[in-house]
Amino acid sequence: MNAVTGYWCPAVAASEVGSRPVARTRFGQRLVFWRSGERVVCAPDRCPHRGAALSLGRVKDGVLACRFHGLEFSADGRCVGIPVEQDARIPDDFSLPTLPVVEADGYLWLWLGPETALEARPPLPRHAALEGLHWGQSTTIWPAHYTRCIENVCDFSHLPFVHRTTIGMGKRDTATRVEVEDVTGGFRAYLMRDGERTQCVEFLYPNLWLLTISERMRMSAVFAPIDDDHTAVYGRTYYQRPLPGMKFLMNGYTWLSQYLVFREDWPIVGSQTPGDVRQAQHEKLLPSDAPVIAYRKLHRAYGNNGAELSFSRR
Ligand code: FES
Ligand SMILES: [Fe+2]
Repeated sequence: MNAVTGYWCPAVAASEVGSRPVARTRFGQRLVFWRSGERVVCAPDRCPHRGAALSLGRVKDGVLACRFHGLEFSADGRCVGIPVEQDARIPDDFSLPTLPVVEADGYLWLWLGPETALEARPPLPRHAALEGLHWGQSTTIWPAHYTRCIENVCDFSHLPFVHRTTIGMGKRDTATRVEVEDVTGGFRAYLMRDGERTQCVEFLYPNLWLLTISERMRMSAVFAPIDDDHTAVYGRTYYQRPLPGMKFLMNGYTWLSQYLVFREDWPIVGSQTPGDVRQAQHEKLLPSDAPVIAYRKLHRAYGNNGAELSFSRR
């Protein structure tokens, strides 16, 4: 699967990786994540010895041991132990290639670009409006390419059709007016009613989305590509004051609201061909597709070269 390259990409919720190694498929590749001290390590979920899934192994003192014959890997991917060959020198090619990971804002961000010095990499994209807010979170899996999922949540004009009985209820006027403006690293799209800006969607490249319904009502989502036909969507609902039990309540609210609304999108979004919108230049777009046009323009502007994930060996 093609990956966005040259950018930090939130790909997994930090809370998913605890004391055990965890397997997640992202960008069409099965990856293992584990914690080593302050760091999180990301590598292909395949032991260089005989191909067993490393996510079945154990972590001790930050070192991951394969469950099959106990080969040990440190946080930089180096093989540091072959217990069944105790006296032998460890060959260099037993090391694991790794992807750079940082943990921030409750996500694990993968660096998908060429090998660049840390200081030369762009900063993590962030929605300024969410500074200092608390959130409830839930995950849903969409049966579609991540670019189609992102376009769907930036598209106001499908609401009265796909969400007739939920968030599109009562929208008898199907005419949709949208205003789009550029922001650093993305765009904002406003739904217009009687000449006034109402709801606002802010999208930041490569996969961060924020819906502002009012000052007190904000929802965000991160679209983490699993493969060409599946996307993990980390949805959040925000609140101001961290009252007791609020997190639990908001996790549940987020799950329920996203499940009820998003499941209406799934069959439609999953039916769009081609899956990757970067191959959809033939589509006939309308003025009400302004956010979609802005999203496609971003792909071109960022020069996404469609490279595969590039792991590095240390
Ligand atoms: S397959 Fe991992 S140690 Fe043998
Ligand atoms: Fe929708």
